Amino acid sequence: MYPKIQINLNGIIENIKKTKELCEQNGISLAVVTKLLADNKEIVQAIVNSGVDYICDSRIQNLISYKDLNVEKWLIRSPSTEEIPDTVRYADVSLNSEINTIINLNKEAKNQNKIHKVILMYELGDLREGCLRPELEELTGQAMCLSNIELYGLGVNLSCYGEIVPSSENMKELEEVVLELEKKYNIKFKIVSGGNSSSFKMLENKKIPCTINNLRMGEAIYLGNIPCFEEKIEALNQDNFIVKAEIIELKEKPSVPWGECGLSNSFGEHSTFIDRGTRKRAIIGLGKQDVKLDGITPLDEEIIVLGGSSDHIILDVSDCKREYKLGDIIEFMPNYAGVLSCMTSKYVLKEIVR
Ligand SMILES: Cc1ncc(COP(=O)(O)O)c(C=O)c1O
Repeated sequence: MYPKIQINLNGIIENIKKTKELCEQNGISLAVVTKLLADNKEIVQAIVNSGVDYICDSRIQNLISYKDLNVEKWLIRSPSTEEIPDTVRYADVSLNSEINTIINLNKEAKNQNKIHKVILMYELGDLREGCLRPELEELTGQAMCLSNIELYGLGVNLSCYGEIVPSSENMKELEEVVLELEKKYNIKFKIVSGGNSSSFKMLENKKIPCTINNLRMGEAIYLGNIPCFEEKIEALNQDNFIVKAEIIELKEKPSVPWGECGLSNSFGEHSTFIDRGTRKRAIIGLGKQDVKLDGITPLDEEIIVLGGSSDHIILDVSDCKREYKLGDIIEFMPNYAGVLSCMTSKYVLKEIVR
């Protein structure tokens, strides 16, 4: 069945083992981020079996699906009001930056007769989730006093929104904040979660301060890539995912549309067309409803991706050495956004290869 995304599970597990070993050499625990897998229990089960310390996901629905997996589970997006009961029920830990949410988690944990662990998020410059220093100090004091909340740790997130990378300066700042709060409140954070895959370089260079004892990683593990730096990690596999789709139309046509031109296409975009004369065009059965178009690159470098619509991608195969036929399969290397969209689309078959 096409379209499909082929997943090399052994490659992913190999990457996890190597990353975990590197983390251990630095006194750091590894929380594997599973959100990219969009509730693929078979893969997540294999990840848990490989012996990871924690798994984390941004969607509570996914953690509900993983409820029987024997591993500590973290919700890495702060829960919305309606998600609070399931967060307490199915997540051991959640990342938080709002006192009202933590108070509600505490109430719910009381109702469920449980202790819920929270990691408070500190804003280190990437400008997504997290409290600035004075608020963090107040939040720490408040969270400590709640009967059914365990103040588990402190965390930061980088390189997801503002393209801010970890550096010796911001890691030192995090270290200072941790030490200051521990001293002020006479506590010890069990977890200091210092970032994600973008910390890989600092990890390799043993530059992460010893106060930081955890990293949450996705992209490095799945794609062997350091986000923000756009650098390949040589020691890790980069080809764990391949996207495949079938040619459903193959014809010679002019390269510029003709007729009266409107303002935009079906996605509200305006395109310009280069006149290359008559070209051999292949349409594949994969579209923008299945994949982020600029998140995939054809393995055949001579293919030109012309564009697409919800259900079709249009390719120019005129310059290819290979003589493509109707029904042939075109393969693509996806980046992070490409994998995320294909894994999330119910129309793309997930084929696990071991
Ligand atoms: C809070 C949080 N932590 C960690 C990660 C993992 O990031 P990366 O895939 O870059 O390792 C993400 C993104 O998925 C995230 O939102």
